[in-house]
Amino acid sequence: MERTLIIFKPDAVNRLLVGRILTRFEDKGLRISAMKLQQSPVEQVKKHYEVHQRKPFYNALVEFMTGGPVILVVLEGPHATTVVRNMLGATDGREATAGTIRGDFGLDQRYNLIHASDGPETARTEIELFFKPEEIVDYTRAPDRWIVSK
Ligand code: CMP
Repeated sequence: MERTLIIFKPDAVNRLLVGRILTRFEDKGLRISAMKLQQSPVEQVKKHYEVHQRKPFYNALVEFMTGGPVILVVLEGPHATTVVRNMLGATDGREATAGTIRGDFGLDQRYNLIHASDGPETARTEIELFFKPEEIVDYTRAPDRWIVSK
């Protein structure tokens, strides 16, 4: 089992797409281990995106991500980081394959609806940045035995 962090960005929240997108992850069989809505502090967003610090789009990205509430979700499942990244599609909605989240709902490279951790190591760091350990819940759902075989 692997955990990954996803962030519903302010465009997803403001476009009323959270429910429809979250349903895709539930339909896939992924389990929600933690979830909260917040208005992100600038310093936290800067830390989260520090790898992009020197990119020309960095300031606008920080402004975007602090310009409205986001919803943070920890998802769990086998190979969750890869599975979720594949469901998102390419960064730019104009290039993302139809059938992916960005391919179906987006037309922009900044306003791309969802962030997801790019691997298990990054996921651990990102989850730690946004959640306290006690906010993450370990549990099983009744259908789990029909979602992943032993
Ligand atoms: P995300 O996967 O969260 O990682 C970095 C974010 O920066 C990305 O999604 C987009 O929101 C944004 N981004 C990436 N490339 C560009 C770009 N060329 N122009 C503007 N924003 C970008």
